[in-house]
Amino acid sequence: MSQTEQHPVLAAIHRRRSVRSYLPQTVDRATLERILDAAVQAPTAMHGEPWAFAVVQDRDLLQRLSERAKALFLDHAAEAGTPAAPGSEIHAMMSDPGFNIFYDVGTLVVICRSTASPYADADCWLAAENLMLAAVAEGLGTCCIGLALGALELDESRRELGIPDAGAAVAAIIVGVPREVPPSSPRKPPQILCWKE
Ligand SMILES: Cc1cc2nc3c(=O)[nH]c(=O)nc-3n(C[C@H](O)[C@H](O)[C@H](O)COP(=O)(O)O)c2cc1C
Repeated sequence: MSQTEQHPVLAAIHRRRSVRSYLPQTVDRATLERILDAAVQAPTAMHGEPWAFAVVQDRDLLQRLSERAKALFLDHAAEAGTPAAPGSEIHAMMSDPGFNIFYDVGTLVVICRSTASPYADADCWLAAENLMLAAVAEGLGTCCIGLALGALELDESRRELGIPDAGAAVAAIIVGVPREVPPSSPRKPPQILCWKE
């Protein structure tokens, strides 16, 4: 067994993958509470803890959010010249009425900043990584859904999720029981700009 596999934190870091295929069961509340507790252990600038969480397990609401995100995406994609222009693979996917941007999973966690402090987004993303690693430890899969963020800015979505006026959605992460975990996607070695000794 390699050193990485032996060390639980390193093992979780290396085992985490973006999961896009889930079993139908919904993650229970106690498990979600444990991974949210791990999320808020993240470092936070000036101990601001500027995060708040919207947990969506209502399938109708998940479907509505997905539809809104797809409609917004297609509106913007109409402005030609983007990689998402008509004819692209992502455009075809987002035009497919059967495609749900949350991969039909039963839980979405939206990490919102509750203030506009300069480091609030950084804090929320650090919480996001903690959440995803804790999910690995619980045998769950996750995937960041950047495609959702535009729809989460809409007044209707903000109202439905209880996002305060001073806040905003920063990270949208789906959580579920993986049907299959994709193979590891290799990374380039770290580019070292300098190493001054
Ligand atoms: C900010 C951000 C937004 C992402 N948005 C999406 C998304 O909308 N849909 C999706 O399927 N994957 C999304 N991903 C997942 C990436 O595609 C994935 O992390 C990348 O391909 C590397 O694969 P891995 O996470 O399995 O290592 C997003 C990842 C990040 C960090």
